[in-house]
Amino acid sequence: MTQERCIPSHVAIIMDGNGRWAQQRNQLRAMGHRAGLKTARKIVTYAANLKVKVLTLYAFSSENWKRPPNEVSALISLFIYALNREINSLHKNNVRLNIIGDISRFSDHLQNRIIYAQNLTRSNSGLVLNIAANYGGRWDILQSAKKIAMQVTKGEITLDEVTEDHFASTMSMGEFPEVDLVIRTGGEYRISNFLLWQIAYSELYFTDTLWPDFNQRLFDEAINAFNARERRFGGIDNKEQSC
Ligand code: IPE
Ligand code: IPE
Ligand code: MG
Repeated sequence: MTQERCIPSHVAIIMDGNGRWAQQRNQLRAMGHRAGLKTARKIVTYAANLKVKVLTLYAFSSENWKRPPNEVSALISLFIYALNREINSLHKNNVRLNIIGDISRFSDHLQNRIIYAQNLTRSNSGLVLNIAANYGGRWDILQSAKKIAMQVTKGEITLDEVTEDHFASTMSMGEFPEVDLVIRTGGEYRISNFLLWQIAYSELYFTDTLWPDFNQRLFDEAINAFNARERRFGGIDNKEQSC
């Protein structure tokens, strides 16, 4: 398996299964989220070593507010903790951190930390790490549609200029390569309002492993499975396959 394999440019991960992992150990769900953070840290390092260009992690969905308030606040506290604790080492490792999602629902403090972290790392040329926080695929399409409606209303563009390419450019991550591979841990076979527009031609990979148990070997397995796929993009051969 060490012979030449294609490393997907953009990998997106639905990090699911933290709660069940904790419950199986008679621990609070928050402990599962802490364990999940450790896994995320390892996978970020591994992805950077593999020269993945963009890694997008689903950390908190626009529907996760439905959880009990103590779990929501545990998740948000953990997010603040991770931002503060990891930002310097991410910066040292040339990682560019980018948060996608509707951050306006977060406290001013958290919004300021996010802006600081993004500004600090914005010129880094290594791995792009997108963290999806209060993110929903439907929200993303809607915010893009609103932006474009505004551009047309102001006369900045004409209706004919509203092309797929233009729409894509106003979606979150419009500046980055297309998502090649989506991994979902935790055994569910669904998208849960993660990327919608952006995964039109992504390869999907599901594993039963709960996120805290995910590791480099399992990430490799997902990449190997990706390599075994033939991407046709609607054609009859795989000419568009990037490697
Ligand atoms: C994923 O783990 C993390 C978030 C949604 C924030 P879950 O908390 O959904 O874990 P399960 O699916 O209940 O096991
Ligand atoms: C998806 O997991 C969201 C994240 C991993 C952040 P959920 O646990 O929220 O998804 P559902 O509820 O099982 O669809
Ligand atoms: Mg879940």
